[in-house]
Amino acid sequence: MSQSNQKTVRVGLLGIGTVGGGTFDVLRRNQEEIRRRVGRGIEVTMVADLNVERAREVVGKAAEVVADARLVVANPDIDVVVELIGGYGIAKALVLEAIAAGKHVVTANKALLAVHGTEIFAAARAKGVIVAFEAAVAGGIPIIKSLREGLSANQIQWVAGIINGTTNFILSEMRDKGLDFEVVLKEAQQLGYAEADPTFDIEGVDAAHKATIISAIAFGIPVQFDKAYVEGITKLSATDIRYAEQLGYRIKLLGITRRQAHGIELRVHPTLVPHRRLIANVEGAMNAVLVQADAVGTTMYYGKGAGSEPTASAVIADLVDIARLMDVAPGARVPHLAFQHDELSTTPILPMDEVVTSFYLRLRVADQTGVLAKITGILAEQDISIDAVIQREADEVSGEGGNQTDLMILTHDTKEGRMRQALVQIQALPTVLAPIVSLRKEELA
Ligand code: HSE
Repeated sequence: MSQSNQKTVRVGLLGIGTVGGGTFDVLRRNQEEIRRRVGRGIEVTMVADLNVERAREVVGKAAEVVADARLVVANPDIDVVVELIGGYGIAKALVLEAIAAGKHVVTANKALLAVHGTEIFAAARAKGVIVAFEAAVAGGIPIIKSLREGLSANQIQWVAGIINGTTNFILSEMRDKGLDFEVVLKEAQQLGYAEADPTFDIEGVDAAHKATIISAIAFGIPVQFDKAYVEGITKLSATDIRYAEQLGYRIKLLGITRRQAHGIELRVHPTLVPHRRLIANVEGAMNAVLVQADAVGTTMYYGKGAGSEPTASAVIADLVDIARLMDVAPGARVPHLAFQHDELSTTPILPMDEVVTSFYLRLRVADQTGVLAKITGILAEQDISIDAVIQREADEVSGEGGNQTDLMILTHDTKEGRMRQALVQIQALPTVLAPIVSLRKEELA
């Protein structure tokens, strides 16, 4: 039976900047196609933005524009509130008020969900409303839909993703041009790829918000951003990117979550990835997410992780879902975190000492007999197996006689705690002349 007589879904946008503007434009441009898919129209009828004039320029007479977002949230004619304000402050209050008013919510706010998701989803359950968040992770890539629905037959084993375009752009430029981090960051800011205050991106926080949400829906656990390990790219040097390349690896900022027997890994850090892997070849501001699951094997999802219309694509897909499901009993909808809420698992997030990875080490050492033997001896005591060792003349030989060299060691998998103990001992050797660089490596096989 056709549903095309159902009433139009009325949407209130909170914020009409880059993503809000894209959402308005795409909804209008594709309204007929969307109506054919959904069986009813979806229309932005109200917009809140502090810049009322600019908002009016975007929407014309198509929607009412107000400065006060609370007028949208309180309007009984609005069915769905789309929160595009960002941050934890006013955005959280507005989302909770919208839920309390019985409205469905779409949000692109990964920070809000990674930190306050448990409270927000509980409030939504109590009111029987949907909180949809496809746009919060990897922009236009439908990774939430894929994990929550497309892969629902599987036990997911791990997910590893390039989920921050800013840092991927910076790393690509550093590798391509052999430039240092600070130089490329300035270039990225000039080109608009990095914000004036880039802290959340370059320190890995944005990626950790997204990885936290991914871990929750992949494994059916609550969102636990406070347990995520977060390391950005600010300390990465062009030297290590070059050495990694010589060893057959690229360095990517990965968000990784992996199921182990007694817990779940949740971490963001620069990672060496074999250059022959597809994900190692994701360059510039693009995003990609690799999922390993027991039945399907490996799948990979690639696309734009930010931007006006790519993110609008995700926001509108959520609006389409809501338009289809708003008249369905709440229990028959896809649960917020993919698993029934009373079936969420208490499996802990593992401390980093328990995380298993292989490593790349770079050591500036005195070029003397027995130095390598001492280092490998300490690694062996910690049961850390070596995969490869290369030696290169140090870039900047300092000191009398310049009798120094760089040693690069690749290890097999080990518990991070063992590596930390080994590194303390190796660093204390008098023949180790500079702070050791240690980077995690993932084969992603
Ligand atoms: N700042 C993010 C990035 C975009 O660089 O990927 C939105 O999450």
